[in-house]
Amino acid sequence: MELNIVEKLLMNNPIRALVHRHFEARRLLSLGGKTNGGLALETGCGQGIGVKILQDVFKVQRVHAFDLDPRMISRARHQLRDREDSVNLWVGDVTAIPARDNTYDHIFDFGAIHHVVDWRAALKEIYRVLKPGGRIYIEEILEKYIVHPIFRRILEHPQHDRFNLQEFVQGLQETGFIVRGTDQFMEMYAWFTADKSEPAG
Ligand SMILES: C[S@@+](CC[C@H](N)C(=O)[O-])C[C@H]1O[C@@H](n2cnc3c(N)ncnc32)[C@H](O)[C@@H]1O
Repeated sequence: MELNIVEKLLMNNPIRALVHRHFEARRLLSLGGKTNGGLALETGCGQGIGVKILQDVFKVQRVHAFDLDPRMISRARHQLRDREDSVNLWVGDVTAIPARDNTYDHIFDFGAIHHVVDWRAALKEIYRVLKPGGRIYIEEILEKYIVHPIFRRILEHPQHDRFNLQEFVQGLQETGFIVRGTDQFMEMYAWFTADKSEPAG
């Protein structure tokens, strides 16, 4: 589901970019640590600030990133115009990622999955394209925020079958992930890191 105009204004401004880099990404960094370079995927990349954070803070080498909204991808192309050698952007849906199984070393999601009606299908697709031994870094918005009377009125989110921290952990585990770390703020925002195990033997 694309963002309504209010959420677009909340997402695409310089203050959010600072909070994204210095607060949100730090929570994930303290849970999952830096990467060892490699190829990362970002789902629902919005205007592209997250891609910069992946490279500058998490030390990812190359990034593939997509968003459902073509206008977000236009903004991201402009935002990332000096990184085009290491960044590949497209319009796409997290429930149908155009990549082979086991493609990515790391996968990042900054707040896209709660916009997906079938969020478990998104987790399955992320699991499919992550390499064995790879790690996911997820920041998500919990049900308490989504059903809050004020946010419900001004923002547009799927309302049915949302998740709290424990339900999202269960979704990750049922998909096959090994959950490594969780954190939450006001029971509204949550951070998760989890791994796809290497095949035995
Ligand atoms: C809350 S915004 C976050 C954007 C960006 N990750 C950030 O932190 O600034 C959620 C983004 O997810 C995108 N989105 C929603 N549903 C999606 C889907 N099924 N597949 C890919 N992107 C999706 C929206 O268009 C929007 O850009």
